[in-house]
Amino acid sequence: MRIILGVGGGIAAYKSAELARLLMDRGHAVQAVMTTASQEFLRPLTFAALTGRKVLTDLFAIESAIEHISVAQEHDLLVVAPATADLLAKLAHGIADDFLTTLYLAFTGPVVLAPAMNVNMWQHPATQANLETLERRGHLTVGPAEGYLACGMTGAGRLASPEEISERIELAIENRRDLEEETVLVTAGPTQEPLDPVRFISNRSSGRMGYALAEVAAARGARVILISGPVHLPQPRGVELIAVRTASEMHDKVFENLGPATIVIKSAAVADFHLSKVPEQKVKKTAARVSLELDPTPDILAELGRKKGDRLLIGFAAETQNLIQEARRKLESKNCDMVVANLVGTADTGFESEQNEVVLVTRTGETLPFSRAPKREIAGRIFDEIMKLRLAIHAADGR
Ligand code: C5P
Repeated sequence: MRIILGVGGGIAAYKSAELARLLMDRGHAVQAVMTTASQEFLRPLTFAALTGRKVLTDLFAIESAIEHISVAQEHDLLVVAPATADLLAKLAHGIADDFLTTLYLAFTGPVVLAPAMNVNMWQHPATQANLETLERRGHLTVGPAEGYLACGMTGAGRLASPEEISERIELAIENRRDLEEETVLVTAGPTQEPLDPVRFISNRSSGRMGYALAEVAAARGARVILISGPVHLPQPRGVELIAVRTASEMHDKVFENLGPATIVIKSAAVADFHLSKVPEQKVKKTAARVSLELDPTPDILAELGRKKGDRLLIGFAAETQNLIQEARRKLESKNCDMVVANLVGTADTGFESEQNEVVLVTRTGETLPFSRAPKREIAGRIFDEIMKLRLAIHAADGR
């Protein structure tokens, strides 16, 4: 997520340096914008060093007269911390007299405000009325906390902690409904290929990554069809669940439900081989050695690659070596738009784990590594990239 951090002129400005670091740690890109007053408390250099980006300050000292517009368009979320009484008033009334306030008017994404000021200023009806206006506009606020204030008084007015602000930002991100136009078909879990009426071949997939994708897509407004192999997970809310067992059942359900899908994500660990003629009776134990002759299962992803039309197709690649090369080979050979690759066989990521560490390779030639994070967070990032990819493909096709 690309976040603009607006820093207002308050004593708590130093805490927003900590917030910048926390947001970077969570994998977000941060663009700091400082008001003139805030530079009395903290130097732009602090944020430049922390974020690795030039800090934006003065409306008239920047390279282009319309930079506030492009910065607004290139970012996904605006957080203002600390939001002083003066800033709240300007934002509430649309006064645009510096870079931050001008940028605010040009920005269409979610806004999070973290007020900090003296308790009397906070309680003043003018400030409270401004806050009400901003909340009615749909902006999220966090804090202020109660406690000892720099002015020597105690009461409400302290900037919320960087952790709380960061949590509120994650909530604002989750509240996004950018997938409302999409129907997402997700496959998840392992498949089971019977050897006889009681035995089967399967794999260690838990289904967690696919379920996280289904949950996130539903939360962001998509219609979600989840085709799942046998797993031990609760049905995600707001998702149409179709349970299957074998690769061939999964194949049939995928193509039965492909019609309305606009995005297809194949996160299931589908068996590659099965026994085509399953004995009707349980195979008896004998002293003799048995061998299994297995046939390949239908390659659902490859068939989807041929039939996908305008749909975005995302494959998964679980590899034990040469991760990126394998992912790119799969992307090409199966005509995918993106492949999510992860190394399996390591201790704490991949199969069965709550966490994952992945690399996305895209049709537009990008290779994006995502460091270890909960599967839900990884799922969110995958959808962020899918939506960017959709824009890039449309732009390239001139549609
Ligand atoms: O080639 P490989 O099986 O490693 O590719 C993995 C990807 O292919 C996953 O996205 C998986 O869901 C899909 N797959 C499939 N049908 C199969 C086997 C794998 O769709 N029979």
